[in-house]
Amino acid sequence: MQSGFPEHPRDFLDTQHWSRPALDALLACAAAFKRERFGDDLRGKTIALVFFNPSLRTRSSFEIGAFQLGGHAVVLAPGKDAWPIAFDPGAVMDGDAEEHIAEVARVLSRYVDLIGVRAFPKFLDWAQDRKDAVLRGFAKYATVPVINLETIVHPCQELAHILALRERLGTDDLRGKKYLLTWTYHPKPLNTAVANSALSIATRYGMDVTLLCPTPEYVPDARYMQRAADNVAMHGGSLTVSHEPHEAYRDADVVYAKSWGALPYFGRWEQERPIRDAHRHFIVDEAKMALTNRAAFSHCLPLRRNVKATDGVMDSPDCIAIEEAENRLHVQKAVMAELARDSGLGARDSGHGARG
Ligand code: CP
Repeated sequence: MQSGFPEHPRDFLDTQHWSRPALDALLACAAAFKRERFGDDLRGKTIALVFFNPSLRTRSSFEIGAFQLGGHAVVLAPGKDAWPIAFDPGAVMDGDAEEHIAEVARVLSRYVDLIGVRAFPKFLDWAQDRKDAVLRGFAKYATVPVINLETIVHPCQELAHILALRERLGTDDLRGKKYLLTWTYHPKPLNTAVANSALSIATRYGMDVTLLCPTPEYVPDARYMQRAADNVAMHGGSLTVSHEPHEAYRDADVVYAKSWGALPYFGRWEQERPIRDAHRHFIVDEAKMALTNRAAFSHCLPLRRNVKATDGVMDSPDCIAIEEAENRLHVQKAVMAELARDSGLGARDSGHGARG
């Protein structure tokens, strides 16, 4: 890792907490790791990967990335192969949870140099889920850096996405590119994290962003819409909401697809189903892609073929989803290497208190 890395927070919870120079430094480091996979940036260091939800890419790329830098990863699934955890302050723990985050995060901090956490919403009450209590609990009590492996945003995916776009479009300067984030049909309501993240990072990098979704109910949380508007004010570009696919796809340079649940229907998903079912035609297909400026197409994966995007789109030379998935490995190595640089036993506080 290069010296003189721009100042940044202890944790990697949300790209919006990191300055543009710091994000650009991570991307430069990731590009270097893509050229030369092996290093000793994590020699003798360890990361705990705490998964409350399934994963293919995140788990494998973090484990392999730690190995390639000389470190070691341990994977834990609370409630499955580790004790269930309580997060509420002052909880009377007479339910399923066997231990509290106050102990879990501080104990892990005595063993490892980094902690990664994946914790999706519970999909019952968005007012609760938007507090991101699991990730915040780890960040509060851990005395080592915490990395968000996807909660209500997916910052590692954001970095992989931007690196893939830079590679595909042949420039680090994405300003002025026409970026379409399109909702797609999926039989189940999914997490809004990637939609929140795509809006955040695309506006942060100055693109002209269009959000395409079936109805106003599918517009993400006001927090992320306001953030995107603030980013436009600071970095240029634009933000438009559309419910009309043909208009939204026209002349796009980038098409990023994702499905997500409509926030007003959290906890009563049967009432959302008729709206969702009426918008199966939001699938990304060759006819819609033909309206674009030969756009790069991507998706965070996993993706249901011929439901979210057709075989023709997925197998097209314009699909960069596999490249983006590969980039997860490289960007996460950059994140781990940078955060671990000042982490470790010598850098820890006494571990007795919680951070505010
Ligand atoms: N994109 C992504 O995070 O993939 P996994 O859910 O497989 O980790």
